Amino acid sequence: MSSQLEAASAMICEAGELLRGYYESGVEVQSKGDIDLVTEADHAVEKFILSWIEEQYPSHSILAEESGQKDLDSEFRWIVDPLDGTVNFAHGLGHFSILVALQKRVDESFETQLALTLDPMRNELFTAQKGAGTTLNGQPIAVSKTTELRQALLCTGFGYDRLTNESDNHREFCRLNLLTRGVRRYGSAGLDLAYVACGRYDGFWEWDLNPWDIAGGILLVEEAGGLVTSVDGSRAELEVGSILCANPGFHGTIKKALDSAKEVPINSRQGMGAFLPEEAMAELVKSGLGEA
Ligand code: IPD
Ligand code: CA
Ligand code: CA
Repeated sequence: MSSQLEAASAMICEAGELLRGYYESGVEVQSKGDIDLVTEADHAVEKFILSWIEEQYPSHSILAEESGQKDLDSEFRWIVDPLDGTVNFAHGLGHFSILVALQKRVDESFETQLALTLDPMRNELFTAQKGAGTTLNGQPIAVSKTTELRQALLCTGFGYDRLTNESDNHREFCRLNLLTRGVRRYGSAGLDLAYVACGRYDGFWEWDLNPWDIAGGILLVEEAGGLVTSVDGSRAELEVGSILCANPGFHGTIKKALDSAKEVPINSRQGMGAFLPEEAMAELVKSGLGEA
């Protein structure tokens, strides 16, 4: 392990203690949107991580979920999500993570060099270094060898804009849930990618993720022997946020199955509540609560 990764690992474990403390003592939750939440823990953990970066690497640029971009025109850029899985955290579900990645400028774009994903509740630290493999608590890990849909456990996620976004993933979710051993929706894209890297999931896909959700996770999967592309099979771009990953012998099969879900007419989802005007949605929620 490089000394830089060692130092960053010590830092993220300290951040994990902080986050766990907030989880155990309870925090005030604020809404960012209808479903999207933010807590004082998101802000406090981000502040802790950013202070460390600014002290250790004052010339490096930073992209962090809560405070945005600090562009110092540096060759290096840190990408930080202080709490991935905020909805779980706020509802008392101990499945969330801290995500830190370090990128280096190569020509016109950035290449991820280091990735750290910490699950503070299970004390699991996933790390990867470009060209040096992926580890879980220091032990090398690899993606699964599964190539059959019937034997596969997959994972996905749904964006916060799922009521209005055409690619709301419900058709794909239903199709793949029927074809496989199951599709989990666990609520932390960072852990989803880490679980593909260590073979717990045989594949993961999601649209509309942010750079801080996936920057490190892509490296974790690639260094563990996995193939990562966007869902349409093109190169995965952080700014686009569309991800499909699995072992290279299985990736194409999942893509084909996802493509086949497009045959289901989009309008069939309106009956489920997608694309409804706001008042109609409010009515549906009310009747769902038995208050109509
Ligand atoms: C979210 C989680 C979730 C994914 C959302 C992300 P946050 O991150 O990664 O799994 O489905 O799209 O925004 O908001 O908890 O940091
Ligand atoms: Ca996130
Ligand atoms: Ca977050």
